Amino acid sequence: MPILDRFNLTGRRALITGGSRGLGLEMARALGEAGAELIIAGSAEQHLQTARTTLQIEGLTVTTLQADLSQPSEAERLCDTLLRDHPPIDILINNVGGRRINTPTEDLALEDWQRILDLNLTQAFILTKRIGGAMIPRQWGRIINIASINALWPGKAMRGRSYEASKGALTMFTKAVAADWAVHGITVNAIAPGPFLTDANKRWIGERPEFEGEVATSIPMGRWGSPEEIGPLALYLASDASSYMTGSLLIIDGGKLLW
Ligand SMILES: NC(=O)c1ccc[n+]([C@@H]2O[C@H](COP(=O)([O-])OP(=O)(O)OC[C@H]3O[C@@H](n4cnc5c(N)ncnc54)[C@H](OP(=O)(O)O)[C@@H]3O)[C@@H](O)[C@H]2O)c1
Repeated sequence: MPILDRFNLTGRRALITGGSRGLGLEMARALGEAGAELIIAGSAEQHLQTARTTLQIEGLTVTTLQADLSQPSEAERLCDTLLRDHPPIDILINNVGGRRINTPTEDLALEDWQRILDLNLTQAFILTKRIGGAMIPRQWGRIINIASINALWPGKAMRGRSYEASKGALTMFTKAVAADWAVHGITVNAIAPGPFLTDANKRWIGERPEFEGEVATSIPMGRWGSPEEIGPLALYLASDASSYMTGSLLIIDGGKLLW
């Protein structure tokens, strides 16, 4: 098969959680441009509508579904809708996450710990179990979990260690499920982004403007990542191009972890 054909997603349906903004929107765009039919899920209807309009103007096929994935019951409800109204789903990108809180461990409330774990880990488990589980009879599937370099390295500028804990657990969950489901033709990989300029980080920069420069100078490439730079990596993992890769954590960080 010609090399570029291995990246073609025509006939595949992809679900991207948190696909209405930031890294999720750019991954959705990349998969859509490669031919996939898109379903994006997010919590704010307004953001979903804006993303749907933008992607449709670009000629992509997109359905939007609202769910607050910080609530496990909402993740279950989303799965019910997807399995009933939108099967089959071939590609699942578990991208929702974040909401880091800069609180030292000694002051971290149990409910805050639990909230961050539910947002970054529990909903990814529920979607993997149900949407990924439905890939098993079809003997083909791609699951991509968006972890973080903080799965490997505690952030220095910010605390709130529930974030590191949940992304580390998501990474190990990726590897374990990859091993279990390799026999079913389903690959499960994770991406560990370094600092990207999305709304989540713009919020921190808004609170402390010097943060932007401090982070940039800590990166060998000397700059933050641009959200669209994650698209080609997601496309690789979503397509037949990555047929022999499973259980991997791919770091994309401008060299941040080298120093
Ligand atoms: N940006 C970075 O530098 C960076 C670095 C490492 C890892 N990551 C990881 O990459 C992923 C995406 O980050 P990002 O920076 O692109 O985030 P973002 O700009 O804050 O976008 C988050 C997306 O997730 C959706 N979302 C957030 N909370 C949700 C909820 N409770 N239920 C449903 N959807 C929800 C948002 O939709 P609504 O607007 O509807 O809420 C939006 O579409 C996260 O898992 C994050 O931890 C990011």
